[in-house]
Amino acid sequence: MGIVSLKRDVEAVRESCRIVRKVLTELAQFIRPGVTTAEINALGRDILRAEGAVPSFLNYNGYPAAVCVSLNCEVVHGIPSAERVVKDGDIVSIDVGAYKNGYHGDAADTIMVGSISPEARRLVEVTYESRNRGIAAAVQGNCIGDIGHAVQTYVEANGFTVVHQLVGHGIGKKLHERPQVPNYGKAGRGMKLSNGLLLAIEPMVNAGAAGIRVLQDGWTVVTEDGSISAHAENTIMIVGSNPEVLTA
Ligand code: MF3
Ligand code: CO
Repeated sequence: MGIVSLKRDVEAVRESCRIVRKVLTELAQFIRPGVTTAEINALGRDILRAEGAVPSFLNYNGYPAAVCVSLNCEVVHGIPSAERVVKDGDIVSIDVGAYKNGYHGDAADTIMVGSISPEARRLVEVTYESRNRGIAAAVQGNCIGDIGHAVQTYVEANGFTVVHQLVGHGIGKKLHERPQVPNYGKAGRGMKLSNGLLLAIEPMVNAGAAGIRVLQDGWTVVTEDGSISAHAENTIMIVGSNPEVLTA
């Protein structure tokens, strides 16, 4: 379980998360029609290293890159490729992890490229708002189920679906720690949240049905029905009734 209390440890996780946000910000500025997903990965990897961080995802369970880049109907864990070119109207999910001074930070954004369909724009906006509502529920004394409940009710009220087979997670000395943080759930259920707990809250929201499958490459997760999907993630720390958004 990722629980920090020592000042030194809190500072370390803040630093890793600051680097993750820096990478996401620079990648968002870099992404435009014509760039390849391999170029997005290379830039992200270079910034991580320049900041003295190790890419958390590279070689994690054999994942071959520093940044996950997932386009349109790809939900998460897209593998960057020199053959994959971003085009006008795409939604591009970028997921970055940084490891430095013994702690990981993890966050993701979904970038809208050029002229976006109204449905894609609404999907991305609902995904961010659902993440923010999940974070707002991540307060001391609440339960894990309160987070998922906040995410799920908002997403479904807007006519979209949350992916069930992939979840957010505790984070800290390891990228994935207990507890799991589902993007669905019942209020008042699950582990109680205590101060210093580090969580990666990361709704994956599909425009169509919630079902997913994994491609032949063993990593890329896509929607089963081919509908588009968006992803937004922040690493947070439980601090009383005001969660600290470390990757803000
Ligand atoms: N944010 C994703 C997660 O928490 C990134 C993991 S990609 C992997 O699962 F390659 F590291 F698995
Ligand atoms: Co994560």
